[in-house]
Amino acid sequence: MSLLATPITTLHDAHGRPLEYLRLAVTDRCNLRCFYCMPEEGIKYLPKSEVLSYEEMLRLVEIMTGLGVHKVRLTGGEPFVRRDLVPFMERLAALPGLDDISLTTNGVLTAPYVPTLARLGVKAVNLSLDTLDRQRFFEITRRDELPAVLRTFHALLEAGIQVKINAVVMNERNIQDLVPLAELTRDLPVEVRFIEEMPFNGGSHVATPESLPWHHRRIRQHLEAHLGPLVPAHTAAGATADEYTVAGHRGRVGIIAAYSRTFCGTCNRLRLTAEGGLKTCLYDQGGLDLRALLRGGTTDEGIAEALSQAFYHRAANGFEAERQRPTHQLNFESMATIGG
Ligand code: GTP
Ligand code: 5AD
Ligand code: SF4
Repeated sequence: MSLLATPITTLHDAHGRPLEYLRLAVTDRCNLRCFYCMPEEGIKYLPKSEVLSYEEMLRLVEIMTGLGVHKVRLTGGEPFVRRDLVPFMERLAALPGLDDISLTTNGVLTAPYVPTLARLGVKAVNLSLDTLDRQRFFEITRRDELPAVLRTFHALLEAGIQVKINAVVMNERNIQDLVPLAELTRDLPVEVRFIEEMPFNGGSHVATPESLPWHHRRIRQHLEAHLGPLVPAHTAAGATADEYTVAGHRGRVGIIAAYSRTFCGTCNRLRLTAEGGLKTCLYDQGGLDLRALLRGGTTDEGIAEALSQAFYHRAANGFEAERQRPTHQLNFESMATIGG
């Protein structure tokens, strides 16, 4: 019987963590130039022939569902800059075994697609938005696109799609924006998540642990000083965010200790880069070249075996993964290439 017709019981790694979630980067291209992700001139994009085709991605996702993956998040770069994303999502939605297809977008091109996302059953969209101030949006992203992002935000709310706002906390750039962003949760049923800045910025600046003054504890203190107590809410296993309720607010506040890496113990994810590289941790150098296997004629069973081995042997946490890299210069990588 074919491997794909027989879902194997969920894979676990050597540390007992299950494989459930795939972050799939559909492109490395982006229409913004966020300071924390890329230098102003952008990064060197992959030639199209080196990016996985949708066909290749579907094949890998199908194999992964046989290993336990039931949630796929589309990332990039910006997913909507890739042509024909919607037909791809339609095919993804038709795959058996996936019960959660979601995406992380900067929202610039997304608004017209919102009705289609609702039709496809997309439950949640994570929207990157670091400020509600148009001038600061321009300074952070180097593009004047705040109105388009806000159109997407409102369209998602109207369509009843769950929205999580992702705001990267950047010293001296958007601290004055944290409270206004958190205030969105007062009347709106959204989650606003504040993310520690990680040094994956494609060389746009040097970020070291010492230059991370806004770690998760300080973010919480800052918010509490303005909003009152953040009361811990139930957080699902494998989640990146610590979630909180605030008295009198409809929505929730989240804090993601992305650089402090407090949630590695329940990490349930794999990453597939746009060029078909497998990352078993955001902080690793990448290892398995799935594109080479796909294009070299490896069978589904062979690919499943290679994936299983890679997942089993992954680092215990993001610190170990970082130590295992040949160089420690995280900032030469861009989140657009890693897939977020
Ligand atoms: P949900 O599926 O809604 O829980 O989203 P998510 O938090 O998994 O994904 P999203 O794309 O919204 O990412 C939010 C932030 O968390 C980004 O800054 C990501 O880079 C960061 N993040 C996501 N996964 C990991 C991870 O495995 N490790 C670390 N350290 N950060 C991560
Ligand atoms: N540090 C933290 N978060 C980042 N993101 C992109 N670059 C960084 C970084 N250097 C976030 C984006 C997006 C998510 C996928 O990752 O804001 O919401
Ligand atoms: Fe998982 Fe690595 Fe992220 Fe930790 S840092 S949660 S181990 S991907």
